[in-house]
Amino acid sequence: MKNLWYGGFVIAALCMLASLTKLVFAQDSGVNTVIEFKNKGEIVQTLNLHEFDKLAPASFLKIFEVHEKKMRIYQVYPARLLLDQVFGKNWRRAEEIVFLCVDGYQPSIPVAKFLAYDAYFAFASADDTPFMLNNVLQNNEMVRLEPLYLVWDNLNTSELLEEGAADMPYQIKGIELTSFAARFPALFPPVNASQEVQQGFLHFRKHCIACHTINGQGGGKAPELNYPLSVTEYIKPEYLKRWIDDPSSIRYNTTMPALTAEIPAREKVIEKIIAYLTAMKTVKPEQSVGP
Ligand code: HEC
Repeated sequence: MKNLWYGGFVIAALCMLASLTKLVFAQDSGVNTVIEFKNKGEIVQTLNLHEFDKLAPASFLKIFEVHEKKMRIYQVYPARLLLDQVFGKNWRRAEEIVFLCVDGYQPSIPVAKFLAYDAYFAFASADDTPFMLNNVLQNNEMVRLEPLYLVWDNLNTSELLEEGAADMPYQIKGIELTSFAARFPALFPPVNASQEVQQGFLHFRKHCIACHTINGQGGGKAPELNYPLSVTEYIKPEYLKRWIDDPSSIRYNTTMPALTAEIPAREKVIEKIIAYLTAMKTVKPEQSVGP
């Protein structure tokens, strides 16, 4: 596996030599977009991509592109170094990082994952191809990736491949340190909930909340699932299971991706997520909800 990566690096280095005279940012309109860095709601810094160059060295990274199911090489900045530069080393003690994306996707990723694995912010393709991808997980939608796209060095780490695309947000325009409980209090199951429900909550956090909201909190890319009516109240159980397992068998051309095929004990995970959604029927805001 290591050799593969080095091979990729050599190819990437050759590409770099070949295009030495070209401006790295030549065809990328994301350069002037400003990225906002926040800590618990307060703005710490705003930077455009030219300013990133002063904080961390750009390089090439070859990954297995989970969205396209093939290899790709991107131009990237190392995430840990960049976050050290922007927030100081203390970001490493935060609980979660929330990514705000132009398309409404809003994943919350544990800081521990950034300490355990190597993440990078991609800002361009390695060659002259547009900074876009064909998202086979979302009905083959062509999506723009700028200004920033979070990728992981997944060629050396099989765990990362099993996780699918959930922690690979594109169109990142904001990066916020937070604690999950502070930012998403309305998502927690009842305190006396069963273990199955609690585990379902963790799976829901990982696989669903970046797109959907519960009680108005979460991502803005997909419908609310709990308020005023829970999906468990108006979708028959067998169809709810199918929405998660194979959404395009329910709605033609849907952009909802099926739950990652590679996750271990996938059937059980689906059952637990439904247990969580069912428990949330009893947890609804008294007043109308808002972001
Ligand atoms: C990448 C974004 C994304 C992710 C991740 C995602 N969904 Fe969806 N989901 C959507 C979109 C978009 C729709 C609307 C689809 C449509 O109408 O065709 C949808 C629709 C649904 C519906 C039908 C709602 C209704 O009232 O019609 C359910 C139920 C649902 N999702 C559950 C889930 C669950 C559970 C997860 C996690 C396992 C999940 N979704 C993950 C984007 C997403």
